[in-house]
Amino acid sequence: MNIRTLLIEKAIAAMVAAGLPEDTNPAVTQSTRPQFGDYQINGAMGAAKKLKSNPRELAQKIIDNLDLADIAEKTEIAGPGFINIHLKPAFLSTSLKAANEDEKLAVAPHATAQKVVVDYSSPNLAKEMHVGHLRSTIIGDAVVRALEFRGDDVVRQNHMGDWGTQFGMLIAHLEDQIKQGVDLESVALADLETFYRDAKKRFDDEEGFADKARDYVVKLQGGDAHCEKLWKLFIATSVKHSEEVYKRLNVTLTQDDIMAESAYNSELANIIALLKDKDIAVESEGAQVVFLDELANKDGEPSVFIVQKSGGGFLYATTDLAACDYRSNKLGADRILIFVDARQSLHFNQVELTARKAGLLRDETSYEFCPFGTMMGEDGKPFKTRTGGTVKLADLLEESITRAAAKLAERESDLSDEERSEIARKVGIGAVKYADLSKHRTSDYIFNWDTMLSFEGATAPYLQYAYTRVRSIFRKSGIDAASLIADVAINEPQEKALALKLLQLEEVLDLMISEATPHVLCGYLYELASLYMTFYEACPVLKEGVEPSVRDSRLVLCNLVAKTLKTGLDLLGIEVMEQM
Ligand code: ARG
Repeated sequence: MNIRTLLIEKAIAAMVAAGLPEDTNPAVTQSTRPQFGDYQINGAMGAAKKLKSNPRELAQKIIDNLDLADIAEKTEIAGPGFINIHLKPAFLSTSLKAANEDEKLAVAPHATAQKVVVDYSSPNLAKEMHVGHLRSTIIGDAVVRALEFRGDDVVRQNHMGDWGTQFGMLIAHLEDQIKQGVDLESVALADLETFYRDAKKRFDDEEGFADKARDYVVKLQGGDAHCEKLWKLFIATSVKHSEEVYKRLNVTLTQDDIMAESAYNSELANIIALLKDKDIAVESEGAQVVFLDELANKDGEPSVFIVQKSGGGFLYATTDLAACDYRSNKLGADRILIFVDARQSLHFNQVELTARKAGLLRDETSYEFCPFGTMMGEDGKPFKTRTGGTVKLADLLEESITRAAAKLAERESDLSDEERSEIARKVGIGAVKYADLSKHRTSDYIFNWDTMLSFEGATAPYLQYAYTRVRSIFRKSGIDAASLIADVAINEPQEKALALKLLQLEEVLDLMISEATPHVLCGYLYELASLYMTFYEACPVLKEGVEPSVRDSRLVLCNLVAKTLKTGLDLLGIEVMEQM
């Protein structure tokens, strides 16, 4: 159910009947205040400007042709030519009923399912996942969940960085650890941060080690079995570390979604040959380079995109070109979404331009680089430990759970210890996720424990608590929400506001999906929970003296709020609980 889409169709039909061209933008929006109705058609002004006619007269003509018989109770012109639409309570009731009876809240699947490749999380395996990987992982996962909810065919791709020169150093160090009989699982590879640091120190300081490391890179790339074995061992451990983080984070990525950089190795030479053949790449100082005039600087010098190093080595860039080919030509993607730090925007611009020229990306494939900003500490600088080190994601999540447990302990509760620790886990993880997802992804944000774990304001704990409050109504009354079939009567303004918000889920998801922006869903759920609180204050449900029909009608609203909160939070990868 998408009221806005429905009104757009009706508005266009009316505009065409009023003599306007078919491509006129009806500009339908949700009204910002109840006195402006529930929706507005604002397209009369723009159309009148083009025709040099009177906008109010044109608005009247549109209204005369507008068929909203079952939908609106009142349509009026306001100001210079806005058309305000007041929806019929009966229309809202019928729509709510349909939503209540449907598992998916009557949110329609996409008319044509698209094949969408989503590249997200994608950590480098040389080290453990740190806070810098949080955003890609959870923003990508929320978008993936929403796409699947609407019936798209999603291919998750975890483009892990498992290739490159660092691995020579790492496997050379690993080999020595094995020779020395160090236990790998519990000691050497237990903490990849330390492992990396030790290897790097040897690389910088130890006589001969750097040469060996470089030699191992060459051997590894040449397919040497011994080096490959060491490399695989290292990669497997690193992947295991990230699996644990994904589980903790309640993220849907699994081993099957790994499509690491090395997966494209056999294609890289072909990619370069193709670029050379088409004169897209040219030799420059021994390297293969694509010069891009489209991205020229202000002096008119083209942007330089190196696709093969002078020694013949391939780069991050080459792999991404091969990935374009695989995703667009082989998988046949309609959309490719890539969630990566904004600092890589030039790279992806270069990749797309080059891939399009070379036919590695079909015209039909939309390539969408979805950048995000940085998570900052209180000091306004990228989030670090007290001593200035990178914060491991796993540690951050454990800290959040511990803090959530402490906050929950302040509240009265008759739940068992086990239940409480389960709740703390959901609140702790939810808090970190919601705080991040609720910011527009392109902006930087300041990480703050107190704000994100607060039970007030737009936070996960607030929404999770709101959910438990609604559910407690059913627990208290003993009424089974699932078997509740009643017509919703909309009389009070608080009922109306809540009903309308409930019916706007699909609109929100449309926006979130087209722009890859989970913050719109976060904002929506917060507004919904707040409207519910207002409704609950004003409209008694279980109180004595409330007519059974009124009670049941309100119970349906309550049930819809619970279902919508649960569904929405689930799309954000945030779990709910029955009690708190
Ligand atoms: N591994 C890269 C990093 O940590 C991100 C990879 C993103 N995806 C891609 N197709 N390049 O910066």
